Amino acid sequence: MVRGTAHNAIEVRGLRKSYGKLKVLNGINFKVPTGSILALLGPNGAGKTTTIRILSTLLQPDDGKAYVAGHDVVEEPFEVKQKVGLTGQYAAVDQYLSGEENLLMIGRLYRLSKQDVQRRTSELIKLFDLVEASKRPVRTYSGGMRRRLDLAMSLIAAPPIIFLDEPTTGLDPRSRQTMWEIIKKLAASGTTILLTTQYMEEADHLADNIVVIDDGKVIAEGTPNALKARAGSDRSEIVLVSAKDLDKAKDIIDGQSLQIDETSLSLSVSSKNGTKQFRQILEELEKAKIPVESFSLHRPSLDDVFLKLTGHKATKEETSSTKKGKK
Ligand SMILES: Nc1ncnc2c1ncn2[C@@H]1O[C@H](COP(=O)(O)OP(=O)(O)OP(=O)(O)O)[C@@H](O)[C@H]1O
Ligand SMILES: [Mg+2]
Repeated sequence: MVRGTAHNAIEVRGLRKSYGKLKVLNGINFKVPTGSILALLGPNGAGKTTTIRILSTLLQPDDGKAYVAGHDVVEEPFEVKQKVGLTGQYAAVDQYLSGEENLLMIGRLYRLSKQDVQRRTSELIKLFDLVEASKRPVRTYSGGMRRRLDLAMSLIAAPPIIFLDEPTTGLDPRSRQTMWEIIKKLAASGTTILLTTQYMEEADHLADNIVVIDDGKVIAEGTPNALKARAGSDRSEIVLVSAKDLDKAKDIIDGQSLQIDETSLSLSVSSKNGTKQFRQILEELEKAKIPVESFSLHRPSLDDVFLKLTGHKATKEETSSTKKGKK
């Protein structure tokens, strides 16, 4: 039976999960419209993987409802599994087979026809930039290549919904870029994507909507731009050449939000109308013959949003110390 709302590929209502006394999910709600990308953003231990595991029927919730492609994940796990591709699911990639052989094998496991398996395999090899490596044993692949093969294998049956748990963690910038391109292509072809990430930049770049979770609760949601608007205004930063100009520059830039770092000779000020104000400041500094080493205009990032909402950063390095004992 298909329930939930037809235009939402995923719908989560009041989901709860505890491990013993540890409340991991504390009643979370969100929806993912069909064909869109949702980023579940949160620090270590926020409950991202737990959510994905429940949605992919690998774990039972304690309370609440979750529908994937209209099917209840608890009552109709079989139907859900047929609609979903999950990375990490086939972590047991055969190291001694080539990438191509692994894809052919998984295709046959899905009982696709021989023709379909061949066609899909060569499509995915091209899409995932694995053409040159496709005949080599997987044990010779780099981390990024393995990750791409893993995702390719989860896509062999062309599922309409995919879950990606931290798809680019640990990848170098080039592999990350390739992964982003692939994810965007999948979304453009109509696939609904739920991904988790700790990287604001990734959520900003890929997601139509972002759900921010912290300590098992949804603390904010919206489009990347809407969330950034909540973090406040633009910030102009000017770095001077010489310390002797600091006082004069302070008078010129004058403003309530003026922040000065005397060691780096940087002055920064926030404003609602960053570009215009920025130009005025530069003109006045020039008039006063104060040389400027560099200048930049900062738009609020999702990092700022996260910091404002939670009082802590979302990056791995920061949270591992602030969230001690959670992992
Ligand atoms: N099987 C388990 N038994 C006990 N505690 C668990 C279990 N699985 C997860 N946890 C705990 O639940 C919390 C949430 O874990 P989860 O893996 O969902 O977080 P996450 O948001 O994916 O974090 P990360 O960014 O580190 O992947 C953590 O504190 C974790 O230690
Ligand atoms: Mg996780």
